[in-house]
Amino acid sequence: MIKPFLSVLLALVGSVALAAGPGPKLLNAGTNISDRASLQRGAQLYFNYCASCHSLQYMRYSRLAEDLGLSEDQVMKYLNFTGAKFGDTIKANMPVGTGDSAGGEDWFGKAPPDLSLVARARNDGPNWIYTYLLSFYPDPTRPVGWNNTVFPNASMPHVMWDLQGVQVLVQPEDGEAQGDGHSGPTFELIKEGTRTPEQYRQDARDVATFLEYVGEPAALQRERYGLWVLLYLLLFTGVAYMLKHEYWKDVH
Ligand code: HEC
Repeated sequence: MIKPFLSVLLALVGSVALAAGPGPKLLNAGTNISDRASLQRGAQLYFNYCASCHSLQYMRYSRLAEDLGLSEDQVMKYLNFTGAKFGDTIKANMPVGTGDSAGGEDWFGKAPPDLSLVARARNDGPNWIYTYLLSFYPDPTRPVGWNNTVFPNASMPHVMWDLQGVQVLVQPEDGEAQGDGHSGPTFELIKEGTRTPEQYRQDARDVATFLEYVGEPAALQRERYGLWVLLYLLLFTGVAYMLKHEYWKDVH
């Protein structure tokens, strides 16, 4: 009896240990997909800074409009730069590149992947994306001129550098040397961007929120239904209580 139980327990502990295995230290993004304003800002940043390279093949413009509370006009004017139709899935501006026609693969050495599911595919996805967007630094040895501590040698440039500014890597590993209990790499801003560091963190959070939503759009509905289910249960408890009261009135 106890043996199977133990082995299940061991398997569980094992998988948790694996999931928490070595990887970059991630910051806590604090994303909240029911924050509609954050989703809308994230979508806007995404279409301005990311959609030229990355597609979202499981998402349609029309679905986006519905879930984010935007009109068809707004979506077609402010988010759609490819001339796609309202009901189309979201394709990148850039061709992937197939040898005889130049495209992402030829320019970056690696085709920019579709990001529909990246928030789920990466361990701790939203925090990964958030930390990734905060961890670019110039590196002349890389073909694109940038490197990243979360995704070393990524062939993606720091596309939002005009917002963040330029930060150099001061302390690649643990910041213990500074004795401030801080862990993870330390950066120093050497050129200011158009946004303050705090505003840029919000930008990165908004993009991470948007990609978390894109990874599982149904989560939005689920949260909305969840509230109704709770309300129903509460109401029903009241009714059941009154009913019980009624039935037991004459029983002594
Ligand atoms: C100029 C083209 C380009 C733009 C613009 C761009 N990326 Fe990328 N991105 C890439 C390439 C190329 C890779 C693949 C890197 C590799 O595997 O070395 C990549 C990889 C990624 C990955 C990692 C995917 C994975 O799991 O391997 C994420 C996440 C990502 N990009 C997010 C973004 C976000 C968010 C933006 C907008 C702020 C953006 N990218 C803008 C080219 C781009």
